[in-house]
Amino acid sequence: MEDKTKLNAQVINEYYNDGKHIVYNGDCLLGLEQLIQNKTEIDLTITSPPYFNVKDYVVYENYKKYLDFLETIFTKILILTKPGRLCCINISNILIIRENRNSESKRIPLSFHFVSLMEKIGWEFLEDIIWLKPEGAAKNRNGGFYQHRQPVAYKPNVVNEYIFVFKKPSKSLIDQVVRSYNSLDALNSKVLGNYERSNVWKINPATRSKHPAPYPMELTDKIISYYSFVGDIILDPFFGSGTTSLSCKKYSRNCIGFEIHSEYIDMFISEIKKVIPNKLHDKLTLDKNEFIELTKEECIEKLMKHPKQMLFDIFKDKEPEIKKTVSKIYLAEQIHNHMNDM
Ligand SMILES: C[S@@+](CC[C@H](N)C(=O)[O-])C[C@H]1O[C@@H](n2cnc3c(N)ncnc32)[C@H](O)[C@@H]1O
Repeated sequence: MEDKTKLNAQVINEYYNDGKHIVYNGDCLLGLEQLIQNKTEIDLTITSPPYFNVKDYVVYENYKKYLDFLETIFTKILILTKPGRLCCINISNILIIRENRNSESKRIPLSFHFVSLMEKIGWEFLEDIIWLKPEGAAKNRNGGFYQHRQPVAYKPNVVNEYIFVFKKPSKSLIDQVVRSYNSLDALNSKVLGNYERSNVWKINPATRSKHPAPYPMELTDKIISYYSFVGDIILDPFFGSGTTSLSCKKYSRNCIGFEIHSEYIDMFISEIKKVIPNKLHDKLTLDKNEFIELTKEECIEKLMKHPKQMLFDIFKDKEPEIKKTVSKIYLAEQIHNHMNDM
């Protein structure tokens, strides 16, 4: 079968490929267009776009041109994304530091402009998650205020960035996405243990990388586990040092990335070898301890909370000839009857 993640080598160079993670060294503008031509389908995008004239890797002529560039990129990503699937963007408002004592610092509300831009393109806004950093991580803006305490001249230290979550519109409900996975993949994708209950996530900035603006792996770990399933294809068009792909390896997702600076991809190549994927179940099982003290009725009620497909897959191990048309209650009863020898 044709590999839909592979690009025309003459247009953009494949720099790293281990079968699950492919990183191209080149402009994502070209790369995304090629993915569209290859009819690649993306399950989730996670990225942090390049800053507008703040870090030194790219410089845009003016702010309008920068927004136009983002609009082109995220229009292409909308085409590539499966209906109902998501795009998670790490972005923050811009702080332009004053040039001298006679000028003032400026802020550009990029995050808010970006949300309008995404809606204009056709993305549906889902969530605004606030990434809260410790105070020490911010540039100090209130040294002057600390001395003079004059109103209006107050400038807070900026300790947040956003993760905006957008959805490609779809007529079907989220349930349909969940049901498109087999029971084993659904089981292996469950978010276990603690999880973020609010939209304020307290996470320290990344310290490990020589890249000028990496996001922390704790952030991508959460986004990937909350918004994708094992085996999904995740896109990061502004790959940098590849934090997205490192989390993809940990959570058994595939990744496609684009990066214009090969030295950042080299950083990723030395890191990815160190990532050990989390263990996955190789077959479906029920935890019998959860049923030990329950009556037959309670057992069946608990089993009925699982998707029918999962009950079917579990019972299929016992009864390979079972027909798909049997009812869910029949499956729950049969599993209960065989619980001791399953
Ligand atoms: C904010 S950084 C992303 C950092 C990344 N999330 C990480 O954890 O390392 C944006 C990256 O986009 C890259 N970049 C800028 N314009 C690009 C383009 N047109 N195509 C591909 N990469 C680009 C920059 O070189 C930079 O590494």
